[in-house]
Amino acid sequence: MATYVNPGAAQAGADVTIYREVSPEQRAVEQRLVDNVVASFDACENPRLNELMVSLVRHLHSFIREVRLTEEEWGEAIGFLTQAGHITDDVRQEFILLSDTLGASMQTINVNNQAYKGATEATVFGPFFVEDAPAIELGEDLAFGAPGEPCWVEGTVTDTEGNPLAGARIEVWEADEDGLYDVQYDAGKRAGRAYLFSAADGGYRFWGLTPTPYPIPDDGPVGKMLDAVGRSPLRAAHLHFMVSHEGARTLVTHIFPEGDPIGRKDTVFGVKDSLIKRFARQPAGTPTPDGRVIDGTWSRVRFDIVLAPAGV
Ligand code: BEZ
Ligand code: FE
Repeated sequence: MATYVNPGAAQAGADVTIYREVSPEQRAVEQRLVDNVVASFDACENPRLNELMVSLVRHLHSFIREVRLTEEEWGEAIGFLTQAGHITDDVRQEFILLSDTLGASMQTINVNNQAYKGATEATVFGPFFVEDAPAIELGEDLAFGAPGEPCWVEGTVTDTEGNPLAGARIEVWEADEDGLYDVQYDAGKRAGRAYLFSAADGGYRFWGLTPTPYPIPDDGPVGKMLDAVGRSPLRAAHLHFMVSHEGARTLVTHIFPEGDPIGRKDTVFGVKDSLIKRFARQPAGTPTPDGRVIDGTWSRVRFDIVLAPAGV
């Protein structure tokens, strides 16, 4: 077993370990190809595109060289991506699932939503947001008949100085108690989602459903990959939010119920400690905040949202 520093990768600041003897002649052949491909972008007039392509090629070639990728394995990888393309349509997005399950979505979010003075942390967007959710007023119910235990959600939207943000647009979406989003039943169905606006004091409130864990769609190539590596397709239970306000960085996040056994094993690595909230279970007969009569148990949670300024 030999270890050496790939000269191409060393230029890019990365060490590459090769788990097999590679002769100097062979190394030179491989490196010449990397250099040729990198040079093929020399005429690119867009400096950012050039940076992205050069770095992508360096890392891709480093990967191929490090693992001594076989032609059969590369064929399998191409077949995997082809299957991902075939199963993808307007509703099913296998490439988002792939990005999510490899932690690439979460890492891109980390890079682009840097911690700022107590601003609420971001997490994965996921594939189930739709643009045309119905509007609700403060205190209304976004279930629209989706089955599940009612959950009262309330909180405030403020900036990082604690000033209330009135009129923040709050998009909320969630799966029903069977772990399915409306669009998974029928592309045109709208239930378990809505948008509303924060009040003059920054407050907001609505009825939703107590979130439950569910698997990501695992009947495609990503599901096969998870199975092959011994990983569960389950996501930790969660409620999605996207909150926007002029002058503020748009926040895409979830809240996760405390005590969920899936928790940190979330298959898309979306759980952050600050986003775990207490969903307090209320026994049947407990009066509700708005006088709604509920036949059975319900839950309540508080989520105070802090938006960072735009551009940080
Ligand atoms: C979801 O939140 O529903 C989700 C996120 C990532 C991948 C699949 C599903
Ligand atoms: Fe989700």
